[in-house]
Amino acid sequence: MARSTFQTLPGTRDILEPDASHLRGLVTLFADLAAGAGFGQIIPPMFEDTEVFTRLGEASDVVSKELYSFEDKGGRNIALRPEFTASVCRAFAQYRPTTPWKTWYAGPNFRYDKPQKGRYRQFDQVGIEVIGSHDPQLDVEVIALAQRFFDDLGLAVELRINSLGDIAERPAYLQDLNSYFEQNRDSLSEAARATLSVNPLRLLDAKRPGDAAIAAGAPTILDSLSNEAAAAFAEVRNGLDTLKIDYTIDPLLVRGLDYYNRTTFEFAAPGLEAAQNAVGGGGRYDGLVEALGGPPEPGVGFAIGVDRTLLACEAAGVLPSSGNTIDVWVVDATGSADVGLLVVEELRRSGLKADRSYDGRSMKAQMKNANRSGAAVAVIVGEDEMSSGTVSVRSMADGTQEQVQRGQMLAAVRSGLAQGRETKDGEDRT
Ligand code: HAM
Repeated sequence: MARSTFQTLPGTRDILEPDASHLRGLVTLFADLAAGAGFGQIIPPMFEDTEVFTRLGEASDVVSKELYSFEDKGGRNIALRPEFTASVCRAFAQYRPTTPWKTWYAGPNFRYDKPQKGRYRQFDQVGIEVIGSHDPQLDVEVIALAQRFFDDLGLAVELRINSLGDIAERPAYLQDLNSYFEQNRDSLSEAARATLSVNPLRLLDAKRPGDAAIAAGAPTILDSLSNEAAAAFAEVRNGLDTLKIDYTIDPLLVRGLDYYNRTTFEFAAPGLEAAQNAVGGGGRYDGLVEALGGPPEPGVGFAIGVDRTLLACEAAGVLPSSGNTIDVWVVDATGSADVGLLVVEELRRSGLKADRSYDGRSMKAQMKNANRSGAAVAVIVGEDEMSSGTVSVRSMADGTQEQVQRGQMLAAVRSGLAQGRETKDGEDRT
């Protein structure tokens, strides 16, 4: 194929069919699950005051390296959202709704990430946030909703959980961590040493094997939790046990954003490459609403990476569908507006998914189009049918065809579709 003048930018993609249908199917499934658990939708703007995101913590790559920020024509510093949580907290601070405020969302995010399979500069997330409750049972419910979503998709995932303790106990732990890594400084890679000076916590999930080996021996935060944080973490684990949700405790799980305290968790799809196998994650962020100028309300939530989840579904052969294949194709050998426009409109208004060919193509070419569309039934109108006020309704599966009065068309198409479904069910069973 000739290369066109313009191509999508690195890390961005056109999502065409059938991928777009899969994506829609996934979002619909998520929306139904969230609504069924008392969540209302929020659709925040895609860009905000840059500071909304810098308050997520300058030590994370998402803020320090990957933010799409620029000055708009009015001289404002704005940024494309790299995630939803900050916008949800900003919205909470702005409107002060009654608590607990339970919202779900779906849409694109932007990160100047290194593009590769499963890692894009524009990617979609679905997620939930609950603001206004400290209850550890809520942490369990939030995790359970994500788990239910993966279960409903039919996708096997692995859940890891951790507690990052409270912000108040963080400095003492960071000091311990810092002195441990300083003792091992000579064995750390250059990149790890740079991370150490910004945020030693991030070194815990270091990917380079040498760094990871050192991180594995680091003091764990689970050993320095306050009584309250330890009790909350125990309650979360008990709740997961009660719901029979499998998990492993991973004291090295720190997540890529800096706002977390207490419960953190991540879901991985074992079918994907290790570097991009995180299909979703989240946790508590009890200080974020206040950091964004709101009241000191706690929060907990998660986001699931839609693109990666779909890659994992594809690898596992469980792609969700929005079920929008065409039911019926209209083949018109007359070129008359009565057929081309009226018949198609009548089918569509009756709720059937109908399509047709254009430009007066030959009968053969139109039948080819019908075949390719996957339609189970074709409505054919030739000169004969035109003059006798009839249409022919053809089963695309076995080629049987009946001529019916125009007034009987909808009933004949519906019965053709029902027969097609029965034949297909029969084939699926054998
Ligand atoms: P996150 O871990 O940064 O968390 O992103 C959540 C998910 O989004 C990841 O597990 C991954 O599947 C997907 N994702 C992230 N970056 C990319 C990328 N460049 N390309 C493709 N997929 C990507 C958050 O965003 C938090 N806001 C989650 C949260 C909600 N925590 C509390 N509430």
